Amino acid sequence: MKQLSKAARIILVGAPGVGKGTQAERLLQRFPQLSAISSGDLLRDNVKNQTPLGIKAESTMKSGSLVPDAMILRLILHELKSRGWLSTTPQPLTLSSSSAIAQEHDFDSDSFVTSPSLAELAIPPRTSNDPSASFILDGFPRTAGQAYQLDNLIPINLVVSLRTPFEVILERIAGRWVHAPSGRVYNTTFNAPKVPGRDDITGEKLTKRADDDEETWVKRLRKFEETSEPLLEHYAKKGVLWEVQGNSSDEISPKLFEEFERRFVDGVE
Ligand SMILES: *[C@@H]1O[C@H](CO)[C@@H](O)[C@H](O)[C@H]1NC(C)=O
Ligand SMILES: *[C@@H]1O[C@H](CO)[C@@H](O)[C@H](O)[C@H]1NC(C)=O
Repeated sequence: MKQLSKAARIILVGAPGVGKGTQAERLLQRFPQLSAISSGDLLRDNVKNQTPLGIKAESTMKSGSLVPDAMILRLILHELKSRGWLSTTPQPLTLSSSSAIAQEHDFDSDSFVTSPSLAELAIPPRTSNDPSASFILDGFPRTAGQAYQLDNLIPINLVVSLRTPFEVILERIAGRWVHAPSGRVYNTTFNAPKVPGRDDITGEKLTKRADDDEETWVKRLRKFEETSEPLLEHYAKKGVLWEVQGNSSDEISPKLFEEFERRFVDGVE
């Protein structure tokens, strides 16, 4: 287990089927100071606990609308703030800062929930550089527009682009077979059934998952490419993008660990 020398605020970007969840899990296991912050989980928890944000998000979803980006941003900010990783209190510098203090936004209040724009925060929040304030942000941002909004609030310092050729992902999907009654999964490359097309235990016929057909996957991959390209470009311009290639998770992980350690354990920029 490795100790970090500074805070890592990272995002993993990868096509469906590339093993993003696997890489995140492995990072979390190897670097115990890293936490997972998932916008989806935050949303679910806030709705479940009926926080002011959760109530608002729930009524938005019930009306059939998407939860707006600004609300997701608030959920993330609120979470970081309650962990003590982010501060919105201005530093007490001069006497004249009292007006700034009056403008300080309280993330827990209803006015924060309903205020129109986070860009109107009088004082940009300050993030902690303590290594324990390290996290992988999952689920947000997905678009360049969302990344732009996030920049003003939380400075992400590493964006990892996980790259596996689409043909390799499609091949893997094509080789995936399931035994529907038990949920047993086979793939012809790594874990082939003993008798082709048959479940090892019952001998019953294997089938494809409904959403595993090639056409569906090609569409998903194209969609990902379209939205991720501007997102990655955005972070490339900020100088925080790093790309890693591999045909499997096991091929990618060691490269990812090495780079992560170079940046956040050894403290080299
Ligand atoms: C193949 O199946 C095994 C067992 O279910 C799984 O661990 C592995 O990740 C699968 N590999 C691919 C490439 O889908
Ligand atoms: C990864 O897959 C591509 C496409 O099938 C292949 O050309 C390449 O050699 C593979 N790379 C490795 C390291 O196996």
